[in-house]
Amino acid sequence: GATDVTLRVNGQARSLRIEPRTTLLDALREYLDLTGTKKGCDHGQCGACTVHVDGKRINSCLTLAVMTQGKEITTIEGLAKGEELHPMQAAFIKHDGFQCGYCTPGQIMSGVACVQEGHATSDPQAREWMSGNLCRCGAYPNILAAVREVAG
Ligand code: FES
Repeated sequence: GATDVTLRVNGQARSLRIEPRTTLLDALREYLDLTGTKKGCDHGQCGACTVHVDGKRINSCLTLAVMTQGKEITTIEGLAKGEELHPMQAAFIKHDGFQCGYCTPGQIMSGVACVQEGHATSDPQAREWMSGNLCRCGAYPNILAAVREVAG
């Protein structure tokens, strides 16, 4: 049956009552109204649902919400500081790193992890890291340019 859980999302404790099988993706979107995280394939193949758990990127469609209790969850909504965009968000705008925008939250969350974990120091390395994030519009060169710029 449903169970009470508390998730720490973008620095806030959020309580919700969910089935144990509820994915983190559904918990964020359906229960917490954090719809910036997108559902593409729901099977771990597109990266649209990428968020950070304790600073590591994960596919939230493959993660049970109950397993993330006590951890620090960051979604696209948690990146900007007030009106100030995260450098990765600003770089995506500068480099036109999106067309339809559906994959963008996941791309940005993966891009931030790419830089933080030191995988963005060359084009091939960054491309490899980002390869789990699909873009149907084919904005890959621009996405890569954004990630590489933030890596410095
Ligand atoms: Fe999770 Fe596609 S929705 S990887």
